[in-house]
Amino acid sequence: MAARLAIDGGTPVIAEPIPGGMHGPSMIDQREIDAVTEVLRSGKLFRFVEDSNVGNFESEAAAHLGAKHALMVNSGTSAIICGLTGIGIGPGDEVILPGYTFIATAAAIVGVGAIPVIAEIDDSLGLDLADVERKITPHTKAILPVHMQGVPCRLEAIVELARKHDLKVIEDCCQCVGGQYKGKYAGTWGDAGAWSLNYYKVISCGEGGLVFTDDYDIYERAAFAAEPGLPMWMSDSEWQSKPFSRQCYRTSEILGAIARVQLSKLEDILGHTRRLKKAFTAELADDPKGYIRQHVDDPTGECGISAAIIVHDLELAKKYADALRAEGLNAGTAYNEGFPDRHIYTYWDSILFKHSPDASGYPWADPRYKGDVEYSRDMCPQTLSILGRALRFGFNVNMQEEHARLMAAAINKVDAALG
Ligand SMILES: Cc1ncc(COP(=O)(O)O)c(C=O)c1O
Repeated sequence: MAARLAIDGGTPVIAEPIPGGMHGPSMIDQREIDAVTEVLRSGKLFRFVEDSNVGNFESEAAAHLGAKHALMVNSGTSAIICGLTGIGIGPGDEVILPGYTFIATAAAIVGVGAIPVIAEIDDSLGLDLADVERKITPHTKAILPVHMQGVPCRLEAIVELARKHDLKVIEDCCQCVGGQYKGKYAGTWGDAGAWSLNYYKVISCGEGGLVFTDDYDIYERAAFAAEPGLPMWMSDSEWQSKPFSRQCYRTSEILGAIARVQLSKLEDILGHTRRLKKAFTAELADDPKGYIRQHVDDPTGECGISAAIIVHDLELAKKYADALRAEGLNAGTAYNEGFPDRHIYTYWDSILFKHSPDASGYPWADPRYKGDVEYSRDMCPQTLSILGRALRFGFNVNMQEEHARLMAAAINKVDAALG
């Protein structure tokens, strides 16, 4: 007989609260403080100095990733914008992205004058291959897969599909810094990848981003996109093509210094979170009654910062979330009272209603755009159904494996009673 649920007066599985915390920001110690102090004492805060922290972070991150080139910028959004410019995306082009991501991914596409085309996700919580294929038009130039919450999407199949249709791939790894997929870092499968280093990410310097690629031409165009003053700091002869002027996404030596220290902690952070996820997964029932696990193509490479279960129906999912809360486990859901998950296209009003800063209606009404993309709140029913039924759990560096096992035990108990 199933144990009595805490919501019905039984004893909660988790007696003490699971420790809260983050990843990189929870690991800040004297090393980051010393690195920042050193920059301030040097008085050299501008990145174009000798032995620059930003420059060193770029080469260290590139070496870590096994990528040939990397450029640090002021945010993940800027990194995607520079990557898109790098791979040659601009007005008239459609770029396919999933309906489950932060609005910044879509905003970056609009930022380069291109058109976001929103596709469904599947049980990997990443792009659904079949829907991507359906959404390819003669105007499609790139696919922008997003690796949400540290879990790479079905990347190999997406890249194969892109190559078949002669499309570029730029990977949004903002939530998957350091994540690997079949032996290669996320972000190095496509033509370019982007990290965010904002406060909520695996490693953080407060705000920051990195765009990386193996292709020098992409790197150079990304660098022009990031810094109109570049030709002032480096002579034209150092560039292979003529610099063009775009926005400025330059970052500072202070942030570069923090980012370098955080990068040196990346594998330790991921070692810890991966152990947590492994302990969680080992404890979770093999034959759940009421849900399926999120599909993970390569469990060894993912970051281990999150887990998700997809309950068979919405009403049951709400019951699971309530029962789990009573057992001491909070689940992230699309319908949380107060602050639901906003990483869903239904919250992207400025995209859905094609808001433009320009009276022309750019980029949707740009004469170079010959397509007819339309949006609506219910345009991705599969995404809404999956996210409505998905319960998500986070792992942080302050947790121990026993906490992860207790989380799984709470899910097992609820599933045995309600599934
Ligand atoms: C999936 C995803 N893409 C892009 C971004 C944008 O990164 P940033 O906030 O550093 O601009 C974020 C940040 O939250 C994100 O989660």
